[in-house]
Amino acid sequence: MKKILITGGAGFIGSHVVRQFVTKYPTYHIYNLDALTYAGNLDNLRDVESSPNYTFIKADITDEQLINKLFQEYQFDAVIHLAAESHVDRSITDPLAFVRTNVLGTVNLLQAFKSLWQNQWGGKRFYHISTDEVYGALGEVGLFTETTAYDPNSPYSASKASSDHFVRAYGETYGMPYVVSNCSNNYGPNHFPEKLIPLCIHNIINKKPLPIYGDGKYTRDWLFVIDHARAIDDVFHRGGNAETYNIGGFNEWQNIDLVKELCKQMDTVLGRAVGESEQLITFIQDRPGHDLRYAIDATKINKELGWAPSVTFEEGLAKTIEWYMNNQDWLDNVTSGAYADYYHEQYK
Ligand code: NAD
Ligand code: DAU
Repeated sequence: MKKILITGGAGFIGSHVVRQFVTKYPTYHIYNLDALTYAGNLDNLRDVESSPNYTFIKADITDEQLINKLFQEYQFDAVIHLAAESHVDRSITDPLAFVRTNVLGTVNLLQAFKSLWQNQWGGKRFYHISTDEVYGALGEVGLFTETTAYDPNSPYSASKASSDHFVRAYGETYGMPYVVSNCSNNYGPNHFPEKLIPLCIHNIINKKPLPIYGDGKYTRDWLFVIDHARAIDDVFHRGGNAETYNIGGFNEWQNIDLVKELCKQMDTVLGRAVGESEQLITFIQDRPGHDLRYAIDATKINKELGWAPSVTFEEGLAKTIEWYMNNQDWLDNVTSGAYADYYHEQYK
């Protein structure tokens, strides 16, 4: 049985990747290693937690000794690495946390994988999940391709860029088989409500202000999280060694238009008057170093691996709203406690 370590599997994207692999590949054993930070939540995986091919390991990727011990004990054949500090705003207030987890934690995993296999790399693979933010900001035209130069602007994107470089360096220096993918903004079920879409869903439900940074004309390329999990499956199994794949939704929205669309759909679902939730929109002080626009050219993964998004944005947003409406206990749980302090500090 192939032993696959998925890091960060209790988080937003990681939980969808764990579900995809546990349910689709009964001949793999999936080990989900996660420190359960504020963003990790085992409630995301209740439906698969008793599967015979699934094991949860609570561990911090920055703990060098423990990570080495776990690699020796379980003898993982492959790693799909998603564990990270993932929120740009938090990276602005606490950059060192991002260096520790995203840079040091990644190098710990690389080193443990290398020590385990001692360069006997047959059938092994390290798959690093990265972000389009490493490429910096686009102007009003153009797309990020796999050869766009790295130009990160936030502590978060600088830490992810650094981890990408370390993965490549282990490939070049030690011959470690690896693959990297850089994806655009995900949305969907289980998204922590510090990020724009779930934060606005939560606030619309509770009739609270919808905070829009600056003039709201910043643009992101949105992809439904299950389509990202499908892409990760494709890249893991069929992506070329030492290759990078850009993954995106071909779906650009200015923040203000996206939030207005969300308000429209939520008004219908909540039985509110047309235009009611839009009145909650509040323009606030901009994010420092705010990247104007991200947009992915996903031609390579489409041509080489045949991947394309399977749901339209309209369908994906409707499914997302439906999930949050049906899982208000999940929202209540993750917004109690420390979230209130974070929210107050960030939006005061
Ligand atoms: P998330 O914040 O929802 O989840 C991160 C997970 O990592 C959590 O379960 C957390 O407990 C775990 N974690 C954090 N620090 C850890 C540590 N030191 N040791 C072990 N586990 C730790 O993040 P996400 O949005 O699901 O993103 C997952 C990955 O995908 C990240 O690497 C991120 O950079 C990348 N990514 C995210 C997006 C997006 O739109 N969310 C887009 C492209 C790439
Ligand atoms: O592009 C991929 C990246 O997308 C991932 O690597 C990150 O992990 C993920 O968090 C996301 O980063 P963004 O900064 O783009 O996502 P966020 O949801 O924080 O913000 C989306 C846009 O909305 C951005 O332009 C900032 C803006 N925004 C965000 C928040 C939280 C607001 O206007 N108001 C807000 O309150």
